[in-house]
Amino acid sequence: MYSLSRNHEHCIISLKSASFVILLVFSVILQVNSEPFTAGLSAFGAAGLAAFYTVADRLWCNFKECCTEKYIPANITSLSMDLQQKVYGQHLVQTVVLNTIQGHVTNPNPTKSLVLSFHGWTGGGKNFVSRIIADNIYMNGMDSKYVHLFVATLHFPHKKDIDHYKDQLISWIKGNVTQCQRQLFIFDEMDKMHPGLIDVLKPFLDHYPEIDGVDYRKNIFIFLSNTAGNDITVKTLENWKQGHDRKDITVKEMDQLLNVNAFNEAGGLWHSNLIEKHLIDFFVPFLPLERQHIKECIKDDLKEKRLVEKIQRRLGQSEIDSVITEIANELQYFPDEHKVYSKSGCKRVSQKVDLVVGEMLGFLQLRNTL
Ligand SMILES: *[C@@H]1O[C@H](CO)[C@@H](O)[C@H](O)[C@H]1NC(C)=O
Ligand SMILES: *[C@@H]1O[C@H](CO)[C@@H](O)[C@H](O)[C@H]1NC(C)=O
Repeated sequence: MYSLSRNHEHCIISLKSASFVILLVFSVILQVNSEPFTAGLSAFGAAGLAAFYTVADRLWCNFKECCTEKYIPANITSLSMDLQQKVYGQHLVQTVVLNTIQGHVTNPNPTKSLVLSFHGWTGGGKNFVSRIIADNIYMNGMDSKYVHLFVATLHFPHKKDIDHYKDQLISWIKGNVTQCQRQLFIFDEMDKMHPGLIDVLKPFLDHYPEIDGVDYRKNIFIFLSNTAGNDITVKTLENWKQGHDRKDITVKEMDQLLNVNAFNEAGGLWHSNLIEKHLIDFFVPFLPLERQHIKECIKDDLKEKRLVEKIQRRLGQSEIDSVITEIANELQYFPDEHKVYSKSGCKRVSQKVDLVVGEMLGFLQLRNTL
């Protein structure tokens, strides 16, 4: 039964590819001979040809990524689940990201492209959340040809080449959006990006229905930076010292803080007129992570590496918590007098897991052979 259905599936796939090849050859012939053909087929004409191309297109999209719902499902249910289950200690991020993305992708006629600016120290999850967004909008996630990640120091490193970068960036955005209106552009290290380069983006973020015949309003832009990371930390620590729950921190008070600081701090958004012109829709603050959040990241990493059962088998059921604590202790915490927040967030968790668990299991292995 099983092998039968497998064969059946295989058969359909080869049928599809065979007809696809025939159609492709046919379409090439049509294009080469388009003069005599169009003359001869005037009655049959454009309608038939259009129908034919639609069929060819549909077949093509079975194999290659296309600008269709199949490849761009924008699944809000799974986005919500991922934000709830995989992101720790970021209640503002969860709310703002979900609401804004949902609002934008479900709107058939957005008035402008969605522009989110992520702020906070490393390890808070800016890159991680960007990846979650890509994964839930695009079937191929970060590998989708409609998702673009630009890292300032990697893609635009030299100040002297700024004019070349400007031309390149404009042409890339234009070229890609011409092919598909739903693109995701992620700019990492915004604080290291030349202000002139940022200003080039301005028309693409604005309220224009179209520029040279291209509509940019369905795109999503995400800017990542450490800008205002310090202010976010100070504010969060203050809240902690007063004995309040970190969930009491509101979007509004953080928004005020970021709006002022993202503009005044040197680098990136500084002097760029994106803020001046209100082209950034939301500033999204990533709060510094506490020890309890680090432990959640460690648990996820252990699960992903299938180490939980291994540790329990070797050390005993109840030992897993002390292993997690030991790994959490490997990281550094600040400020010095309270040691509340992880200096590197969840960023170096995976390496620490390898180190501690590797030592532990390796040591046991050695002892068993003696
Ligand atoms: C969206 O994701 C949920 C959860 O993963 C899944 O059950 C559902 O089928 C998905 N919907 C679409 C349209 O892909
Ligand atoms: C699309 O963007 C990528 C960079 O992410 C670039 O390499 C490519 O040339 C662009 N495509 C077009 C058609 O401009």
